[in-house]
Amino acid sequence: MSMILTIADLKDLARRRVPKMFFDYADSGGWTESTYRANEEDFQKIKFRQRVLVDMSNRSLESTMIGEKVAMPVALAPTGMTGMQHPDGEMLAAQAAEEFGVPFTLSTMSICSIEDVASVTKKPFWFQLYVLRDKDFVLNLIDRAKAAKCSALVLTLDLQILGQRHKDIRNGLSAPPRFTPKHIWQMATRPGWCIGMAGTQRRTFRNIVGHAKGVGDLTSLSSWTTEQFDPHLSWKDVAWIKERWGGKLILKGILDKEDALMAAKTGADAIIVSNHGGRQLDGAPSSIEVLEEIADAVGDTIEVHMDGGIRSGQDVLKALCLGAKGTYIGRPFLYGLGALGKDGVTKALEIIRKEMDITLALCGKRLVTDMGKDQLRR
Ligand code: GLV
Repeated sequence: MSMILTIADLKDLARRRVPKMFFDYADSGGWTESTYRANEEDFQKIKFRQRVLVDMSNRSLESTMIGEKVAMPVALAPTGMTGMQHPDGEMLAAQAAEEFGVPFTLSTMSICSIEDVASVTKKPFWFQLYVLRDKDFVLNLIDRAKAAKCSALVLTLDLQILGQRHKDIRNGLSAPPRFTPKHIWQMATRPGWCIGMAGTQRRTFRNIVGHAKGVGDLTSLSSWTTEQFDPHLSWKDVAWIKERWGGKLILKGILDKEDALMAAKTGADAIIVSNHGGRQLDGAPSSIEVLEEIADAVGDTIEVHMDGGIRSGQDVLKALCLGAKGTYIGRPFLYGLGALGKDGVTKALEIIRKEMDITLALCGKRLVTDMGKDQLRR
């Protein structure tokens, strides 16, 4: 554990411990994966101003996201099939986030259910909603999140239909896994994962199976989303979802200034500048490329968050400098989870915290909330 110094180290270990189809599910983007790559690469083009001889004592990374105190402005992003990276993955990641003091967001497409996560956490977590054609199911899902005392609903706007990810098709991705020779081989070469999975009942999409009409086992994520996700979703739907939910609402998947201005008018509490980790529209710009113009366009009318490509504490700080009040990590915590379970998620958060703290100091700042455009060389 001591030689794990970066998120890339966790990724290497996860690759060795997680069956290929699930590792690849996390490590994939749409079509050519150009947007997936750009999310990471565009961060490298941004440079900090190094400052010297300023008081660097008493530094703090504390901030708020949608009014909630956070130990650092880095939430765990909603990620599908997290419980396939590691048995009971969502429950473990939620506990790690809670202990660390950052928000955990549970995906609709999770393996562990809302109720599973609520049963092992003490503080409220956030719930991400996909809108399905079956409106009764959606209403029920919102009510279940309320009953579990989730403190924010994260409504995803950019996945009315699923982008094409070649790796998933080639791997024949499914949950629970199928038992073809290829899949048996992928699992047999990861014995620790198999033993863990044999010890849990949580191996399918537990928010959905048994709750949505006519859904037994969800073998194929892509065919299921094609059948079930609502391609008619429009800005009008945001109003009834907001009304039914009645709590803090975050709109995820904004990548265009005009959409950001529309989102601000809905009365939601925050937007997430996001291209879904490069998994939807390949050829779209990276999140960090469009962040500043979106933050400038909406000004103070709505809180701005971002995700996509964050692999270090430095990336978090760059996003804050360019106008984000909060950020999300998806793959970094999944790699931690796949590598070392709950301890790996904590490790991912610790790596990011340390990188943020040292960078903050070397930029001559003591408070993370003081990072702004002035700290970047431009
Ligand atoms: C689901 O949200 C996915 O991106 O696979």
